[in-house]
Amino acid sequence: MYVIANWKMNGLRREAEVLARDVAEYLHGREEESALECVICPPATLLHAVAGWAEAEEQVFAVGGQDCRAEAAGAYTGDISAAMLKDAGAEYVILGHSERRRHHGETDAQVAAKARAARAAGLIPVICIGETLEHHETHRTLEVIEAQTAASVPDGLKENVILAYEPVWAIGSGNVPGPGEIEVTHSAVIATLTEKKGIAPEQISVLYGGSVKAENAPDILRIPGVGGALVGGASLNAREFCRILAAVR
Ligand code: PGA
Repeated sequence: MYVIANWKMNGLRREAEVLARDVAEYLHGREEESALECVICPPATLLHAVAGWAEAEEQVFAVGGQDCRAEAAGAYTGDISAAMLKDAGAEYVILGHSERRRHHGETDAQVAAKARAARAAGLIPVICIGETLEHHETHRTLEVIEAQTAASVPDGLKENVILAYEPVWAIGSGNVPGPGEIEVTHSAVIATLTEKKGIAPEQISVLYGGSVKAENAPDILRIPGVGGALVGGASLNAREFCRILAAVR
């Protein structure tokens, strides 16, 4: 199971170090539990530092970026390539987060191109999908999710395929879909990946994200088809985040 911390645009060096070290300290007691893969995705400015702390802590957690550009290099001021993330110590990269889709107009096709670039650079992409409140209220969740999944996952991706189902209306809101809804949506994502993309089921992990907290994590993580959690706000507090890690049992 994956528990991925998405720090978003939060964290300066000093507090980030305390947070990362607290998480590492917790994980040191659980090394034998190979079922848990913890990944911290800090802002790009901290990637190299967090990767260094992970190394000093015997890699009890892995490190990931929050976005990359599809092109390998060039005149793209302010952007970061997949190879740069890898070079800074990342093993994973979150792609197509709804905040990127909303604030930067990212399309499914761009997300797929980024995922291809990530894989080419040796990173494991974590591809985010999720319906808006309007889609949800008009009962279009499955239709939207299946279309996003088919278009955001590049055709060549066959191994270690990680998606994060994050309903836009659940992110940072304290609202979470019911367990039945999460189960149905995750099974639709898995079916789309196996049937339309020819991906073997054992290569697929579908994480849930959107208001995952210490209190609801045990219930969410035991839903069939949930392969872990992508955690935003609650990943900024070491105690809360470690309680989420503890929910992986
Ligand atoms: P949240 O964010 O846990 O704060 O709802 C999740 C995410 O956006 O990845």
